[in-house]
Amino acid sequence: MNPPTHVLFILTYRCNLRCPYCVVFNPVRYWRPDDDVAIPPALAREELTTQQIVERVIPQCEQAGVEVIALTGGEIMVRKDAREIFRALGDSKLKWCIDTNLTFCTEEVAETIIDAGCDTVFASLDGPPEIHNKLRASPRAYKTFTEGLARLMHARAAAAESKTSVALNCVVQAGNEAAVCDVVRIAAEYGVDSVSFQLCSKLDYGEVFQADVATQALAAARELAKSLGLRMSVFPIPDPTPADLTSWFSSPPSAAFFQGCSYIYSSLRIDPSGNVIPCVEHRIGNILEEDLLDIWRGSVYESFRAQIMKTPIKACLRCCNMDSRQGSNPGIESIHPVQTN
Ligand SMILES: C[S@@+](CC[C@H](N)C(=O)[O-])C[C@H]1O[C@@H](n2cnc3c(N)ncnc32)[C@H](O)[C@@H]1O
Ligand code: SF4
Ligand code: SF4
Repeated sequence: MNPPTHVLFILTYRCNLRCPYCVVFNPVRYWRPDDDVAIPPALAREELTTQQIVERVIPQCEQAGVEVIALTGGEIMVRKDAREIFRALGDSKLKWCIDTNLTFCTEEVAETIIDAGCDTVFASLDGPPEIHNKLRASPRAYKTFTEGLARLMHARAAAAESKTSVALNCVVQAGNEAAVCDVVRIAAEYGVDSVSFQLCSKLDYGEVFQADVATQALAAARELAKSLGLRMSVFPIPDPTPADLTSWFSSPPSAAFFQGCSYIYSSLRIDPSGNVIPCVEHRIGNILEEDLLDIWRGSVYESFRAQIMKTPIKACLRCCNMDSRQGSNPGIESIHPVQTN
């Protein structure tokens, strides 16, 4: 079994926002109701220390041959040691990227991200001001986001050289179907490099989604992105038709798209307490107790993989990392496209 190529490291479940659609606050906590190794939520609230991250998690990923570590949350920048962690990643041989809502992207934070050599910053924008604020349930979300983005782009421009690529990530859902072109426009206005559109994966999706409007808007956004020289991707269905989108947003989730999962053969996740999980919160082991490769190749992980390939769980049906019928795991490429300028 080859080593994992990607690690998604959930630094914290804490967040300053409460976006109603968020996977963190609508989690699939347990992968089977009778699962006796699922993680008690309280356990995952205990966070690894800076020292444990710098001296254990990062070296373990390096030794295991991991290529890319992606930091996510919650909001990673609520951790006071975020800059220290960025610097330690910069000193490692790993490629690394971060997901953020940019609320706490001060000048110092922006400079550290660039100086430490982050490969890709994925910044979350769900639409123009009114829509972004509504979907992010905060009247100041757009303002703080764009202020943080401006600081980041300024830090990149001020650096003698920078390999950091900046991408906007937009969760397509009821409420921003018609606004995807605005996201591309805003991306161009701030000088970012690419835009990814991710179909909302919330399982109990109850809102009315306008599939025709979204399909046309995504096609127009693609043209616009091309004319503005921006890379654009949609996942996990790269080029959805109205029927695809109607089906994706149907409740209960449709089984039409799932064609298997290569994510669990190439990627793993580490939760804030160091638990190694495949995707949903199912504890395979803990990085403080066992070597990463032993967990990756161990019998608990193997039996999880075997069971998924036999019978996908509900979360697979609306998962951004599935192998969809239109492409083999476009999610991984979109989530971790390490690019250099
Ligand atoms: C969980 S957030 C963590 C990082 C940070 N707090 C942020 O919002 O960017 C990581 C990414 O997942 C996206 N996301 C959250 N809930 C989602 C959902 N239900 N379906 C698809 N993407 C989702 C967010 O918009 C964000 O781009
Ligand atoms: S900012 Fe990110 S982690 Fe926080 S609630 Fe929104 S999507 Fe979730
Ligand atoms: S498709 Fe793969 S990554 Fe997604 S929930 Fe299923 S097993 Fe996990």
